[in-house]
Amino acid sequence: MSETVIKLENLTKKFGNFTAVNNINLEVCRGETIGLVGPNGAGKTTTIKMIAKILRPDSGKILIRTNHSELRDLQHVSSTVSQIGFLIDIPNFYNMTAYQLLKYFAKIQRYPKDKIENRIDELLELFKLSEWKYEKVRNYSKGMTQKLGIIQAILHDPEIIILDEPQTGLDPLARIEIRRYIRELQSLGKTIFVASHMLYEISEVCDKIALINFGKIIGFDTVENLALTLKTREINCLLLKPLDAEKLAPLLNRMVEKLNPYLDQNLDPKISKIPIQYHPEHQGLKLYFDGKTVSKGEILKILVKEFESDFTVVSFTQPKTTQLERVYSQMVIGDTPEGSNKLNGDDFKDE
Ligand SMILES: Nc1ncnc2c1ncn2[C@@H]1O[C@H](COP(=O)(O)OP(=O)(O)OP(=O)(O)O)[C@@H](O)[C@H]1O
Ligand SMILES: [Mg+2]
Repeated sequence: MSETVIKLENLTKKFGNFTAVNNINLEVCRGETIGLVGPNGAGKTTTIKMIAKILRPDSGKILIRTNHSELRDLQHVSSTVSQIGFLIDIPNFYNMTAYQLLKYFAKIQRYPKDKIENRIDELLELFKLSEWKYEKVRNYSKGMTQKLGIIQAILHDPEIIILDEPQTGLDPLARIEIRRYIRELQSLGKTIFVASHMLYEISEVCDKIALINFGKIIGFDTVENLALTLKTREINCLLLKPLDAEKLAPLLNRMVEKLNPYLDQNLDPKISKIPIQYHPEHQGLKLYFDGKTVSKGEILKILVKEFESDFTVVSFTQPKTTQLERVYSQMVIGDTPEGSNKLNGDDFKDE
């Protein structure tokens, strides 16, 4: 078991009466890549800013271990020896050239003088910015500025790298490049925190996901283990013609009766109160079933044979979302302050 390098203990941050980060506990081991995922305003950036010492926690502690030392309270560790690199928010790099700017950052991080030039060139090359070395950063595109922000975060070769939405503003190819680079950092044994809304990107590179909502960690595990908590499987079934509103209730009852052995018997009422819903806006049925492939086959057979005179099924699919998207929508949407909500039909795509 690898040693803990970051430990958040009952970390809390308030802005006035509003608790942005609420008693967070999290432990990260050396070499792990953690994805910090959650809706807008969940408290991701606030958490990262506390680790970066831009914000001071109201209560709780951040402990870090660098250079295989002991776990120490971040309050007492000077930022130049803390060996953490940050990218927070979209950088605003004023009137300097990339070269001037990186040299400046290397200097404040006390990166060895004789190695600065090579390091800057190596990273500019890696991020395909070499030609822009002496260009003013204000002339850069958004994506280029973002890449420069990442270079700035890793320039001094920190052990712990914390990136707040590194892929924002990057085109698909640049995102793939960043992903590749994160993998390279992983292979060097770095510990990485990435906050992102790009669930696919996150699930591709992260070892574990910390799901954060309303300032609290609501799940912290591998995507696979988080997915084990998923209790439901959905099927979207599109119909040739809309269903007659008057006949809908008895029809749904009949369907629930016939399909009962294959439907989800423990459906979480936060997700849906009934196992079969009709979505007129999509002209389709959403069925919550037990997740077994055999059941899926039986359901389709019954729908086609026994309901032939009621409707015609034109497609029958499980929503094409990634595992993490499914975990996210169930855990985050189910976790409202009022404690109740339901999935909408936005994922009702016939793909
Ligand atoms: N300086 C501040 N003063 C007052 N409220 C703040 C401040 N900074 C953040 N907040 C509030 O704290 C909450 C958490 O914000 P935070 O930026 O951490 O969210 P986030 O998870 O990073 O969201 P996003 O995905 O939009 O980046 C939000 O409701 C935000 O309005
Ligand atoms: Mg943020």
